[in-house]
Parts: sequence; structure tokens; C-alpha cells
Amino acid sequence: MTLYRATFLHTPTNAFTDPDALRFEEDGAVLVRDELVVQSGPYAALRAEYPHELAEDLRGGLLLPGFVDTHVHYPQLRIIGGLGLPLLDWLDQVALPEEARFGNIVYAEAVAHEFCRALISNGTTTALAFGSHFAVAVEVLFAEAERAGLRLVAGQVVSDRLLRPELHTTPEIAHQEGKTLIERWHGRGKLLYAVTPRFSLSASEAMLDACAALMGEYPELRFTSHINENEREMQTVRSLFPGAPDYLSTYERAGLVTNRSVLAHDIHPQDRELEVMGAVGCTAAHCPCSNASLGSGLFPLRRHLEHGVRVSLGSDVGGGTGFSMFKEGLQAHFTQQLLGAQGAALSPAQLLYLSTRAGAEALGLGEITGDFSDGMAFDAVLLRPQAGSVLSAVFGRAEGPERALAAAFATGTQADVERVWVGGETLYQRENTTSIV
Ligand code: GUN
Ligand code: ZN
Repeated sequence: MTLYRATFLHTPTNAFTDPDALRFEEDGAVLVRDELVVQSGPYAALRAEYPHELAEDLRGGLLLPGFVDTHVHYPQLRIIGGLGLPLLDWLDQVALPEEARFGNIVYAEAVAHEFCRALISNGTTTALAFGSHFAVAVEVLFAEAERAGLRLVAGQVVSDRLLRPELHTTPEIAHQEGKTLIERWHGRGKLLYAVTPRFSLSASEAMLDACAALMGEYPELRFTSHINENEREMQTVRSLFPGAPDYLSTYERAGLVTNRSVLAHDIHPQDRELEVMGAVGCTAAHCPCSNASLGSGLFPLRRHLEHGVRVSLGSDVGGGTGFSMFKEGLQAHFTQQLLGAQGAALSPAQLLYLSTRAGAEALGLGEITGDFSDGMAFDAVLLRPQAGSVLSAVFGRAEGPERALAAAFATGTQADVERVWVGGETLYQRENTTSIV
């Protein structure tokens, strides 16, 4: 067992409904045996109870639950930064030409490696990732995640229209390739499979039915897609599904909207859609950097919360601008501020909740990861700024852990991440570590 001594913070309950959701210990400790948290609390109390356990001193930073990124595209890592285009033009000119390269296994392997390293080194320990349209590239992603030790939910992206021919498949092939991938990877170690039609715009009813068939054949699969992101996209979906009352209904008709469904963006929802999402427990993955970058709009968080819709956070790389969940949290805060009276101002506790526990619950992993409660996997990120950095100056002066947490969201970057654990195992350790204590 190891006793990690650190200032730790976590949100074991819902920070939107429980005003006391944020729990922290300024001089705290987390006792870890093998993969799991045995106990967390004040250092003095745990030390007295476990006087002989090996202790590691991690003071001088913040120990947080590992981040959960609930919307990120693996084949878009290398095209981050395609600024200045709205969604459909960006897909045509930037994203899809890159995604077409993933039929090449050597290329896919290189990016899969970069992708897992990028997530982990930013403190993300669990991700729901859009895979590739090519089954071979999805194989490669799962294999790399397993090697890296990442908790990953992912699947083959399927489409049968309006992208480019090399990214199209048929419902029959999608079903067949999905089956093969699911049998090999779903439930293996820390890996799960998510059925992933790209969006209704690029998926016919027959394709959505093939997705539903897979969901029916295997238990515990997750489902993910996009929804209500951009006006032109929504208009096209309306014309492709003339009988559908709204975007959500295109997924609902096939039975794809459940408490294991994560729909990205949802910037422009109808009330009916929010009512259904709230009633069934489907999650909206809010991707604030992408929404701002592609000019998609300002996410109506308050309306989601009022309808009881679960909300999590996603980086949406490469529409988004990087892998840091600090940056997403900050942009989520900016977005609500810009909405003025219609916004839902976010506290540091709510930012932490959105980037950790809310994501774990969205993925049906709330019993396994997302906070430091007894029995949870020890998935953690140690944020310890380098001496001389702005954040280290703020940490030195911060009036308590909650202010330090707010500063972490305001200025934290990948450079401030010192160490990352998944299931008790250290997956990342920053080089040239200098302690500020
Ligand atoms: N809708 C369909 N595909 C995509 C994508 O790759 N990124 C974003 N942001 N929206 C999409
Ligand atoms: Zn996306």
C-alpha cells in the first residue's frame, strides 16, 4: 500500500445539486492498495491509522481525480488548429481529408500513440473517443490504449452518405466490422466499445438501424454521436429526415437514446429534446473550445440543467484546440459568463465535477472512477507547477484549496501536470520535476 500525502480535492456528489459537493483536505492523504483507493482523508488521521505504510510526499500542488474527456476524435489530432471555418466547411476541407489517411495502418499507429500520450500527459485518464471510419485504425487505437494503460471507450465511426466515398460503408459491413471489434475489445481490461454513427447527416435510417442492432446484441455497449451543433448541419438533417420533429428523434426512432448515450454539442436544442434527454438520462457532452472555435454557438447549460439533462465536458479535438481539460473548464466558464442572465455561472466545484465525476457517470463508470471515494480506482492527476511559473506564485498565495482549484482552471496547462495514475499505476511522470515546497 502507498499513502500519498497531498492537498486533494474531489466532487463525490453532483455539484449542480449538492452545494457541499466539493470535498478537500489541505493536508490530506489517499491510501492506495493495488488499483484502488482504500481510504482518503486528513493526513494525520490516516498516518495514525496506518503508521507503517510507505508514504509519498506530494505536497506543493493539487491532487485531483483524473479527468474524463467525453468527446474527442482520435484521427483529428494532427489537424488541431484549423481555425476560421464553420463546421461543414471545416469537415470538408480540414477534418475529413485527414481522416481519409487512416486506412494506412502505419499512419494510424503513429497517431494512436500520439493520441494516448496527449490524453495522459494532460491528466485525462478516461476518454470517450471517436475512432476512425477504418476498422484497422480502430484496432490500432484499442491496442495502443491497452499498452498505455488508458481507460478508453471508443468505436468505429460509421457513415453511408455525404462525406467522401472512402469514408462510406454499408449498414451490413458496419454491422459486421462492429461485431468483430466488439468481440475483440469490449470489456477487455479498461476498454469498452461505443457504437458511433458520425451524425444523422451522414447516416441513413438503415445505418442507424444497424447501430441499434449491435446495441441489442451486446450488453453494456455505449452509444455516441453528434447533435444540434450548427445551423446549416441542422437544416440539412431536417431535409434528410422530413418526417422527424427534431434532430434527437432521428436517433430515438432507432432506439439509440438511453442512459448510455452521449451526444456531443447540443447547442441549439428544442425543449422536447431536452425533456427526452432528461427523462432517459442521456448525456450532453459540452465542448466549449470547439463551439467557440467553429463559431457553433453558446451552450445553453442552464436549459439543460433545468430539464435534468446530464452534462459532461469534451475537448472535441480537433474542432477543439487541445487536450487540456483545464482549458475546457475555463472556456465553459467563459461561455456561461458571455450568456449573461441566461448563463449558469460555474463555480470551481462545478468545473471540477464537469471534468471528472460527471464524465464518469456519463460513461456508466461512476462506480469505478471520477473521485477518491473508498473503493474507487486510483485514477489521479497531480498538478504541481514548476517553480517560477505563474501558477506556482498563485498557489503560494491562494487562500485555501478552492481558490487554488479556480486558479488551476484559469491558468493550468499540460506543463503543470507532474504525474498521472490510472488504476494505481503511474502512466506519466514529468521530467525535470522541481518541487516548490
Ligand atoms: N459532426 C460530425 N463530425 C464532426 C466532427 O468531426 N467534429 C465536430 N465538431 N462535429 C462533427
Ligand atoms: Zn465531435
